[in-house]
Amino acid sequence: MAPEVTYDLIVIGAGPGGYVAAIRAAQLGLKVACIEKERSLGGTCLNVGCIPSKALLESSELYAQAKDKLKDHGVQIGQLSLDLAKCMERKDQVVGQLTGGVAFLFKKNKVDHILGTAQVNADRSVTVRQNKEETLLKAKNVLIASGSSPIELPGLKIDQKSIVDSTGALALPKVPKSMIVIGGGYIGLELGSVYLRYGSQVTVLEALDRIVPAMDLEVGKAFQRILHKQGMNFQLSTKVKKATVGKDGVEVEVEDAAGKASTLNAEVVLVAVGRRPNTSGLGLDKAGIKLDERGRIAVNSHFQTSLAGVYAVGDVIAGPMLAHKAMEEGVAVVESLAGQAGHVNYDAIPSVVYTWPEVASVGLTEEQVKEKGIEYRAFKYPFTAVPKAIAMGEKEGFVKLIADKKTDRLLGAHILGPRASDMIAELVLAIEFKASAEDIARTCHAHPTLSEGVKEAALGLGSGPIHI
Ligand code: NAI
Repeated sequence: MAPEVTYDLIVIGAGPGGYVAAIRAAQLGLKVACIEKERSLGGTCLNVGCIPSKALLESSELYAQAKDKLKDHGVQIGQLSLDLAKCMERKDQVVGQLTGGVAFLFKKNKVDHILGTAQVNADRSVTVRQNKEETLLKAKNVLIASGSSPIELPGLKIDQKSIVDSTGALALPKVPKSMIVIGGGYIGLELGSVYLRYGSQVTVLEALDRIVPAMDLEVGKAFQRILHKQGMNFQLSTKVKKATVGKDGVEVEVEDAAGKASTLNAEVVLVAVGRRPNTSGLGLDKAGIKLDERGRIAVNSHFQTSLAGVYAVGDVIAGPMLAHKAMEEGVAVVESLAGQAGHVNYDAIPSVVYTWPEVASVGLTEEQVKEKGIEYRAFKYPFTAVPKAIAMGEKEGFVKLIADKKTDRLLGAHILGPRASDMIAELVLAIEFKASAEDIARTCHAHPTLSEGVKEAALGLGSGPIHI
């Protein structure tokens, strides 16, 4: 069968990596199709990841504020009650608005959305299967942005009722009395926070001796203390052996660092132990597209796979599994295809945990700086000394900056505190522009704002902070 249409670019997957690349490519004048097996566009991020979890985090934080914080502001609430169904309905509306937005942008930019499962062939054609029908499409270039899926643990069968992954945890019909979260990473702490705020007893089991292992150690420890104070329990260096669903919930068999076995019980178990790249079903092997040693699609610095004209971005290749990283990569690929200089600066990719307080980082951790043998200075400025934080009643956490001792260049920035996700942007820009700590310290920051903590931390690396 001869290929039907010739596109400039076929994008496989309409998650943040794929849909952003498709829109940008169309804006740059390419004829683009985006193949997605789900009717709803936006991939994991918009449908069952970043966006619904942020909707639930927002709702549950408002509930927690009403329960614990508003009285300090003189706001009295009589009988507080929770309508979880309403909160889930709102989350679905948020998702609907944003996935519909992608469909609108596809139409506006004349990106063809093709429903089906894609397989790449060695001649760079793409076979699309939908309801037993097969279509063969041909393109000058193909971009694989097939994303990732939750990792399942042996001995724990996900039933999305008692033992859930992130998708199940985003749609629980009621607040469980107790929840065991396996994995103290991004998903575990964010979704664990949602149900903790709604009144679940939450216990996080983490295999390593620290939570969010990639985070600056000092920040991670302070973060864990704050979450513990909120009521989240932690069992670190704990291996999960097996979980059995019974009448009274789930029984989880664990083993501590010394090899001592014990059993824990909870109404719901959330498994959040990482994600694996979606590489199966794409015909990669047959097409001659190689994987790296960790099962991700191997690409060169231009995101080119081992098959000429086929590129890959996002969770399916190396690097942090973050929506904004995938978006940057997708744009870099299509800008290169359009004759521009597409490039991603991996030193300037922020990461955020959307708990309360939030944790946001960019650049190197103190451990990484030490490992590289760089002479450095680090300074921590607490939110207890930031007027806006005091006025908000949100004084937990600090801004930690790390700079090269010789050149004063900013190497890393870590914020544990209120609205850290918004504050990190100026520090990402600082790293992108290779700013020095002095550049940040000399920049006028509006008063009173939380970002004064950033200025004071930068002053701390030089002539000294003013307000402590
Ligand atoms: P993660 O990689 O962030 O954390 C997984 C945690 O589980 C690690 O601390 C790991 O040591 C632990 N673990 C692994 N196996 C275990 C076991 N058998 N028993 C106990 N603990 C175990 O993965 P997570 O939280 O599942 O998130 C998946 C991906 O999604 C991440 O790569 C993250 O980048 C992304 N994500 C990002 C978010 C954000 O940017 N705010 C939010 C949610 C997810």
